[in-house]
Amino acid sequence: DEIDKGPYEHFMLKEIYEQPLSIEDTFRGRISMDHSKIFLGGIIDVLPQITQANRIIILACGTSWHAGLVGEYLFEEFARIPVEVEYASEFRYRNPVINKDDVIIAISQSGETADTLAAIKMAKEQGATILGICNVAGSSIPRETHAGVYTHAGPEIGVASTKAFTSQVTVLTMMSMLLGKTRGFLSKEEYTHLVGELTQIPDKIRTILQADDEIKKISETYQHATNALYLGRGYLFPVALEGALKLKEISYIHAEGYPAAEMKHGPIALIDENMPVFVLATKDKSYEKIVSNIQEVKARNGKVIAIVTKGDEVIKKMADHVIEVPDCHEAVAPLLTVIPLQFISYHIAVMRGCNVDQPRNLAKSVTVE
Ligand code: G6P
Repeated sequence: DEIDKGPYEHFMLKEIYEQPLSIEDTFRGRISMDHSKIFLGGIIDVLPQITQANRIIILACGTSWHAGLVGEYLFEEFARIPVEVEYASEFRYRNPVINKDDVIIAISQSGETADTLAAIKMAKEQGATILGICNVAGSSIPRETHAGVYTHAGPEIGVASTKAFTSQVTVLTMMSMLLGKTRGFLSKEEYTHLVGELTQIPDKIRTILQADDEIKKISETYQHATNALYLGRGYLFPVALEGALKLKEISYIHAEGYPAAEMKHGPIALIDENMPVFVLATKDKSYEKIVSNIQEVKARNGKVIAIVTKGDEVIKKMADHVIEVPDCHEAVAPLLTVIPLQFISYHIAVMRGCNVDQPRNLAKSVTVE
């Protein structure tokens, strides 16, 4: 047990640090050297069905559901296929409309989550094509699907999912780009450029890992918080949800993730000098808007911890703390911006004396309803 953790105090920390390698393992052998081809052998037989799909329905729970939400933005942007992302537990009990030309993608680290498994069995009976994005080879969900892509992230021991999430998002990114190309929505140049952006992610994560001590210092300031808010827009809205889930899972601080623009429809009422607000504010299409959201929080004396693109001087002047991530295409920004949030939840949980790898009441794999 101790040996497996290597030099790390907890599995979660080890798994955070493993991400440059686990993401490389996810795309190893699947991307050509010149970035002109993505090869996903596990779905090749059903590529015609996926390419012609009327709709993609993503089914998952927990962190995997957040990866699915990133997938929604990716598939709609690059492949122009409408996507619905559903909690498997809601989907299976509400008599959903499923058509034969729907493609269902089940996302599950363990491949054993009871609700996700039951939901795909139901969709399969109704004639849909079922794909899996799973980490554990030979687990129940992959055995039930028509095709799929393994994430190859290696065993994840910490209950709070970290490297499985970034590997799931990596698979979804590859799939959406591949479909974008086959459906004719991405030019050869755009496609090659995007694939290149994805392959640079591991090295960019290595840079963020070097900021661990700095992030730990920032975490100290907020270790006694009772509430926290996480805001993001576009591709980074799901990352806000994931950051909040990480914090509540392991540190037991109440945290909420919100689309930044929705803040004024509720959460803004909670903001005062005791409320840390983590804002995902890298340079992308909605940068100007997120800057105004930060001003709205500051005007109410909230504490802003902003995740920004390296070199951002504007937000540095407004926020209480900034954590920089390397510049990247906005579609791959979830893979970078989630890393500081994983660190923050980890450090705060350790400072609060929580059992990081096995938080109370939670299980790594929920095999009962
Ligand atoms: C549990 C775990 C989470 C995980 C979720 C879905 O709640 O604690 O970390 O995201 O189940 O698990 P799955 O194996 O289906 O991804």
